[in-house]
Amino acid sequence: MGNEVFLKLTGIRKSFGGVHALKGVDLEVRKGEIHCLAGENGCGKSTLIKAISGVHSVDSGRIEIDGNQVEKLKPIDAIQMGIQVIYQDFAVFPNLTVAENIALNGEVLRGKKTVNWKQVKKTAKEAMALVGANLDPDMRLEMLPVAGKQMVAICRAIINDCKLLILDEPTTALTDKEVQKLWKVIRGLKEHGIAIVIVNHKLDEIYAIADHLTILRNGSFVSTGKIAEYDEERFTRDMTGHDVDHAKYRPVLSKEEVFRVEHLSLKGRFEDVSFSMNKGDVLGITGLLGSGRGEIGEALFGITPPESGKIFLNGNEIKVNSVNDAIQNRIGYVSEDRLTEGLFINKSIQDNMMAASIQRYFHGIKLDTSEMSRATASLIEKLGVVAPGGDVPVRTLSGGNAQKVVIAKWLNTNPRLFILNGPTVGVDIGAKAEIHSILRELAKEGIGIIVISDDMRELLQNCNKIIVMRNGRIGEVTDNNAERIEL
Ligand SMILES: Nc1ncnc2c1ncn2[C@@H]1O[C@H](COP(=O)(O)OP(=O)(O)O)[C@@H](O)[C@H]1O
Ligand SMILES: [Mg+2]
Repeated sequence: MGNEVFLKLTGIRKSFGGVHALKGVDLEVRKGEIHCLAGENGCGKSTLIKAISGVHSVDSGRIEIDGNQVEKLKPIDAIQMGIQVIYQDFAVFPNLTVAENIALNGEVLRGKKTVNWKQVKKTAKEAMALVGANLDPDMRLEMLPVAGKQMVAICRAIINDCKLLILDEPTTALTDKEVQKLWKVIRGLKEHGIAIVIVNHKLDEIYAIADHLTILRNGSFVSTGKIAEYDEERFTRDMTGHDVDHAKYRPVLSKEEVFRVEHLSLKGRFEDVSFSMNKGDVLGITGLLGSGRGEIGEALFGITPPESGKIFLNGNEIKVNSVNDAIQNRIGYVSEDRLTEGLFINKSIQDNMMAASIQRYFHGIKLDTSEMSRATASLIEKLGVVAPGGDVPVRTLSGGNAQKVVIAKWLNTNPRLFILNGPTVGVDIGAKAEIHSILRELAKEGIGIIVISDDMRELLQNCNKIIVMRNGRIGEVTDNNAERIEL
């Protein structure tokens, strides 16, 4: 098993009005192969998938499925040839049961007038056994977590002789553990000879699951090959079109203290935490979940204030007993969960960017909206936010651009200390590098930057000092920068 090509696309082109979403894309997927399709947001991945599944008719190019060239592929043809797609929303029915979601479609498709409920349940159970999913067939889908709904969608996809299973960004809403479980299921399907295409742009996940990788950029085919042919440098270059600066952050050493904490404690969360930062420092805090790593950030921003200890900002002791205290002292904070805590996703970029500094734009009772638009435009420019303008809602932005909006919101408060928890979670590799360079620049300007992260590669590259938390205490402090320049 393995070398026989199941799907071959050559020179696929597709435009929507003036938008050239696909400009001649090739893709070759073999039976029993796990093939990752990668590329930055908007590069055409979903459009390509919809071309394979017959949802979009292509403008030109060749589609060969199982050795046969197909003209004018319709969704029903694709399904009959064994192609199944799981889109990001899974398209499951919340008010139906697990068994109904998996097997009802098949019953209806077979043109039965009455539904054989026994058969529905039996089919569903068989599919779950094959996939290795262990769900209650009578449970209503709305009761299941995202990962459960996804399993149901996979079960439904494979019951009718599936030969190619395509998953569009299947891991975005999953926890690490759920991702591992998904990979196990996918590997099982591969063993059955099913070809699998996974849209994904996270390098770590791609390394964990892919046999082959194809990279698109801006609607164009860039490269394809075995996963072993891609190291991080090549992956980044092919994804972004340029070399990303992998040089470690090496600030000029300064004796000017920016921030210091002494013996900070909060019962049950962390104990006796002391550290200091000088101008130019980007401090990393890491550790396992629950080690105190995130808890320190929340304490310094006054969400759960410390019970004892001292905090000094630019040499002066400050009290942080509430979020308001933190903001008054010009401390900015980007939480781990920007979508629920950091952003009003239905509001415009401008509303979000101005949200933490709105007082500044009041003249008496009148808001200076033209000053606000000017500030927004300059932040968009400074942070390189890709958007048609400041008035578009944040929900239309990619993860990286949304995160830049959160960062801009705090920058506009002129922070003296800026704490970021998971600053690049769910962010494209290109935008990730841009966010890192923004943080380095801010540190050089003298803003204290604290990055809380479990991404060791991110910390080693961007922080000159790293604290490892263990059981609420500082376990280790690493000076990541032996070759720092002395002033
Ligand atoms: N139905 C559509 N109508 C107009 N433009 C579209 C449509 N679908 C996608 N596009 C555009 O095509 C490009 C590729 O989009 P998409 O395939 O969704 O990218 P990806 O999945 O890689 O993020 C984008 O510029 C997007 O705005
Ligand atoms: Mg997409």
